[in-house]
Order: sequence, then structure tokens, then C-alpha cells
Amino acid sequence: MSDPAIETPPLRRGDTIELDIEKAAFEGRAVAHVGGLVVFVEGAVPGDRVRAHVFRKKKKFAEARVEEVLVPSEHRVEPACHHFGVCGGCKWQHMAYEQQLRWKREHVLDAFTRIGGLEGVAVNETLPAVEPFWYRNKMEFSFGEMRWLLPDELGEVDRDAELFALGLHVPKRYDRILHIDECHLESPESNAILNATRAFFLERGIPAYSTRTHEGDLRHLVIREGKHTGERMVFLVSTHRRDEVMSEYAELLQGPEFGVTTFVHGVTTRKSTVAIADEEIVYFGDGTIRDTLGRNTFRISPSSFFQTNTLQAERLYTLAEKAAGLRDDDVVWDLYCGTGTISLFIAGDVGEVVGVELNAAAIEDAQMNAADNGIGNARFIAADIVDFLAQKDELDVPAPDVIITDPPRAGMHPKVVAALGASGVERIAYVSCNPASSARDCGMLREYGYEVEEVTPVDMFPHTYHIECVITLRKKGL
Ligand SMILES: C[S@@+](CC[C@H](N)C(=O)[O-])C[C@H]1O[C@@H](n2cnc3c(N)ncnc32)[C@H](O)[C@@H]1O
Repeated sequence: MSDPAIETPPLRRGDTIELDIEKAAFEGRAVAHVGGLVVFVEGAVPGDRVRAHVFRKKKKFAEARVEEVLVPSEHRVEPACHHFGVCGGCKWQHMAYEQQLRWKREHVLDAFTRIGGLEGVAVNETLPAVEPFWYRNKMEFSFGEMRWLLPDELGEVDRDAELFALGLHVPKRYDRILHIDECHLESPESNAILNATRAFFLERGIPAYSTRTHEGDLRHLVIREGKHTGERMVFLVSTHRRDEVMSEYAELLQGPEFGVTTFVHGVTTRKSTVAIADEEIVYFGDGTIRDTLGRNTFRISPSSFFQTNTLQAERLYTLAEKAAGLRDDDVVWDLYCGTGTISLFIAGDVGEVVGVELNAAAIEDAQMNAADNGIGNARFIAADIVDFLAQKDELDVPAPDVIITDPPRAGMHPKVVAALGASGVERIAYVSCNPASSARDCGMLREYGYEVEEVTPVDMFPHTYHIECVITLRKKGL
């Protein structure tokens, strides 16, 4: 039966239509209407009038892609990157930065109102990034044997260049790699490394690994840098050792223009598409780099987890600390603690911290980082949060005065929400990378008497639609 509330205009897949773009939707798309039908539009900025191609039509919505901007929005800007539009990394580079911040806040407000049922919640202005470009401390590029050709390249490329690629995956095409010669999210030195690496291996005729046939050799190029220390790591993953070629490559990487402080060659024969290796050969440096977050220094190995935007992570943690309202003698539980960066950031200001995390390797890193920084009042437990909370009375851990929680995108398990709700703890600081799931969890926590005092969106990833939030929750009547 058709929905009488929606007057469906005669719109079909394959149509070309003119649209006035009203607002930014989740996941980088924009919204327009044709009669009562919502149209999600790719490549548009709110305020644009565009001609768009409809590539999907469902009963309640359609999806379209911009073919031509007829009247540009006053908020449309020239993207800094010439890969914009093909590379899926930065969906919002064509929107003025202050508008990106505005729409991120709107999305948080919308999630808390609509999903959390928390009408009138105080959502602050989005905290802008310190540096909207060149902010990432890690980029992971892939080699491929099927380069994605741009329309003006079709029929023009020679066979080697056509087959060999080093760059980023084209969205929704995991077998195709887009050549990237300049990415505005990492440093200029990393772009120099990327281009020199491609030229080096192409010249030596070393084949890229094929994710279809599992033949070939070169797989990933990971570049990591310490934003505060200037140290820089190259981690190259391939199927074979090739000691001679890698020694030559190591020599190249020691050129002053690259600023590389350590080079690790990782070898793996696994079919996995992630940049991990079974064997790691360190060619120079000690195989790690260091970076600082607040008062602490962290040692980062090729596969350690570390927040990708160092400068903004410090501001995020400072906000989390404020939301937690920490006191000198507080016992703090840091749930979903990863490598313990929040625990260690706050340890100097509280009595004791207990970090809990599922990933045992991350807990080992947390323990090592605590020891390296001479922190004696933080302890770390490898466990599923659900199990930890169910068994907390049998474990030798002190009851918390305050809980900091930083779950993955899916948010907290309902059992975790229920246990936090029943804990009676006065203060909860919720750090979230997904407004929809945190809004849902905060809506549930309200049933247990927890009020959202304020929400602060933090822009960790400029030019993308991703948004992090710090949420201050307080138990009513305490
Ligand atoms: C958003 S990250 C937290 C990062 C960390 N707080 C930081 O700032 O670096 C979420 C973490 O939750 C962990 N995790 C996911 N599910 C979990 C579970 N059921 N129990 C415990 N930890 C879990 C993941 O391994 C990941 O490290």
C-alpha cells in the first residue's frame, strides 16, 4: 500500500532533474525535495541549485548525483585538492569550513532530539580543528594492479602505468586504486614519500599485489608521524622480502626531503587487506616513532592504535576531563580505553584510574605507556565491558566516583547502559564518534536519572562528515 502522506512525483531512475539543495544530510549527502519526495544528493552544498542525475528511486526517497551546478551556494568553495570528487576521503571540501562546523552541530542536535528524545538539550558550537588541513598523523595507501582511470585518461595511458597504482581505494570499488599525488590531510613530506615510492617501485618493475588473484607483491604504504616530535615512519607491506631492493629503498628514504626517522618493511602472505605483517624488518631507526598527548609521550609501532589527529585529540581529552568534573582523589573508570590515552592524560589529576578494553594488545600498549611515563596510579584490564561490569564485585577494583566512556561507533551494549545507569555514579563523561548511538544511549540513561547537561561537538576530521562529541551527564538529585 502506498503511503498517503507522500505525494510521489513522476520521478524515475535515470531522470535528470533540477533541484534546490536545502540542507546537509548524514554521511556527506545533501537533501532536496521534489513534491513530498526526499532526494539525497551527492556532490551538492546547501543553497546550490543543481542539475542532478537520479540513480536510485525508492518509494519514500530517491538518490541523485550532481551533474552541473546551475547556481552555486554562497557556501560553496573551491576544493583545495584536485582529487576531490573521485577520492572518497573528503566529501565536504567544497563547503566553507564554518558551514561544515554548523552542519556537524545540526546533526548532533538532530540525533539528540529525534533519536534520544532529548528535546532542548544544550549542544554547543562545534569546536573547530586547530589545523583544518594536514592534520592526520597516519595515512595508509594501497598498491594495486588496476588503476582507476579518470575520464580524460581513458585510452591514453601506457600499459605499466595503467596497471600499477599507489593511492587510495575508489569508494565502493575495493579492486580499484586512485593515484594520489597530493593528499591535503597528511604532511607535504608524506606526499613526497608517496610519489617517490611509486616511482621507485614502478621503475624496478616490482608488481603490485592483486586482491583478486592474490598474485604480485607490493601491498600497503603506511606513513605515520609524530606531530609534536617531527619523527616519521614508513611501513611498507609486501608479500616477499626482497632484501636488496628494500635496502635501496631504505637509502632513498634517508633523503632529507622526506624526514623519515625509521623504515620498517613488513612481510605477509595472508590474504587480509589490512596493513599488518607476520614479519617486520627494521632497516633504520628503531621501528617506532614517538608523539606526545598532554604530558605523556607515546611510543608508536607500525600497527599501534593512536588517535589520528594529535592536536585535536588533546582538545577532545581536555573537554572530556572537564565533562568528568575531576577531583584530586577521584577513582575514574575509563571504559573502552584503547591504548589508555585518556586514562594517562587524566592520571595526574585524580586518585586512581582503571582502564578497561577488549583488545589485549591495546592493553599491553597502555601498560607500557603508563610505565614509560612513570604513571603508577593507572591500571588496565583486558575484558569485554559487559563481562567486566557483570563481574566487578568479584574483581579487586575500587568503585568509581566518575566514569568516562568512549565506545566504538555502535555505542554501548544495552547491558552496559543498564549497568552504568544502576551504578549511581554522580558523573559520566561520554566521548562519542557517532551522535546517533550516543543519543540513543543518553536517552536510555535518562531513564536511570542521568541528565545530559551539555554536548560539545568536536571536529576531529575536517572536510569529512565525521563528528566526535563530548557529553556531560549528571545524576539528578545528587
Ligand atoms: C573509540 S575507541 C576508544 C579509543 C580510546 N578511548 C582513545 O581515545 O584512544 C573504542 C574502543 O573500544 C574497544 N571495544 C569495542 N568493543 C568493546 C567491548 N565490548 N568491550 C571492551 N572494549 C571494546 C575497541 O577495541 C576500541 O579500542
